[in-house]
Amino acid sequence: MLDKVTGVELLGYISAALLAQIAAGIVIAAIRYQRAHDAGFDQEAALPTSLKAAWAGTRAFRVRSRQSEDRAGNQVSFYLEPVDGEPLEPFVAGQFLTFQLKLPDDCGSLRGVTRCYSLSDCHNPSAYRITIKRSVAPVDRPDLPPGLVSSYLHDFVTPGTILQVRAPAGVFVLDEDILAPVVLIAGGIGITPLFAMARAALADQPEREIHLFYGVRDHHEQVFGTDLKRMEAQHPNFHLTIVQSDPLPGDGGAESTGPTGFIDVNLLSAILPATNGHFYVCGPPAMMASLVPALREWGVAEDALHYEAFGPASIGPAETLVPQLLQTPLVVRFARSGRTIDWTGEDTNLLDFAERHGIDLPSGCRSGSCGTCETTVDAGEVRYAKPPAFDITDGRCLPCIGAPVGDLVLGA
Ligand SMILES: Cc1cc2nc3c(=O)[nH]c(=O)nc-3n(C[C@H](O)[C@H](O)[C@H](O)COP(=O)(O)OP(=O)(O)OC[C@H]3O[C@@H](n4cnc5c(N)ncnc54)[C@H](O)[C@@H]3O)c2cc1C
Ligand code: FES
Repeated sequence: MLDKVTGVELLGYISAALLAQIAAGIVIAAIRYQRAHDAGFDQEAALPTSLKAAWAGTRAFRVRSRQSEDRAGNQVSFYLEPVDGEPLEPFVAGQFLTFQLKLPDDCGSLRGVTRCYSLSDCHNPSAYRITIKRSVAPVDRPDLPPGLVSSYLHDFVTPGTILQVRAPAGVFVLDEDILAPVVLIAGGIGITPLFAMARAALADQPEREIHLFYGVRDHHEQVFGTDLKRMEAQHPNFHLTIVQSDPLPGDGGAESTGPTGFIDVNLLSAILPATNGHFYVCGPPAMMASLVPALREWGVAEDALHYEAFGPASIGPAETLVPQLLQTPLVVRFARSGRTIDWTGEDTNLLDFAERHGIDLPSGCRSGSCGTCETTVDAGEVRYAKPPAFDITDGRCLPCIGAPVGDLVLGA
């Protein structure tokens, strides 16, 4: 009886042990799967957002509010919330939004225009912020019309206006994996991506040393003044230097103190302890042209030097390829889209050509400065009217300002 019971019990024990082993195996496998899945998810999430658009095409945004940022009202922030009410995807500080508008031309017909505007604050799931400077005719050409899109936004866009917006994009982004000091150098409205970077670094990397050099004509031109002062007061690792090129005499009190002139290496070397930081520069063309080479010469390493120019989105005739109708069309193949189309020469660039034939390529500035449209060249060659501002990776091209030299295969 004892033997029989023991045998049954033994069988029970063996079965229980087997079941326990199977269950343990399932639990371990589940844990491993979960870990692998988590690791995969994290790796995916860690990819720069610039590599993957948060949404395809355009998304409707409603202007929630607008706020003047300077005394003259020439720089205005717009807060944009998605019409679909979904929370906003995070972006990488430094990225911009691309706006597609239809505005009346001189003859009153609507024409499509595209402009990029940097996100001017760190991520907020309920609204994006952009800050736009009214673009006026150049001083030496008062006969020219003022900026088309910035004037429209300043004069006609009010709370409730719906705008069509492409997802955050751009490669001029703060690298938050690096702990080396970050040196942000802004000229005028070039402050927008750099302010977002400063805010993101303070939030996510509280130990990182952050230097912000902000060049303005006079203190009336300065934006985000209250926030900058608060950031300076609250964070000992945030160092702000405002440099006025043409300060107003006796007007501005304490705001008028500080360095005057233009931001250059002499000024930087007097304030920065070393060149070992990561430098981000965004400002008007003259500032970029002098400062970027000077920083290289000073010893800033190439991989620590990041810059973006707010080149005019409307490309002047001298920079644009002119249409050249061809007797024998070239063959352009878009490999991923599986389309082969004749290039007859009526388009000035491959981006317009692709869009005209229903192929959607990512784009931002459409003037060769942001890198958003960079595409692999699988075969053939692309020509430009002038060397692009953006440093193109070998084997790739910028369709927004490029045209085929002969038959061409693009990765897109
Ligand atoms: C990545 C990126 C981010 C940007 N971020 C910001 C930002 O945060 N804030 C911001 O304010 N801007 C930003 N910009 C600049 C912005 O995209 C626009 O270029 C800017 O607002 C001017 O556009 P507009 O349509 O108002 O002017 P446009 O109509 O493009 O005119 C530009 C200038 O050309 C002049 N002009 C007009 N007609 C002619 C002509 N026939 N010949 C020669 N000149 C002419 C105008 O008077 C004006 O001075 C950014 C640009 C890029 C590429
Ligand atoms: S769209 Fe900006 S470089 Fe082509």
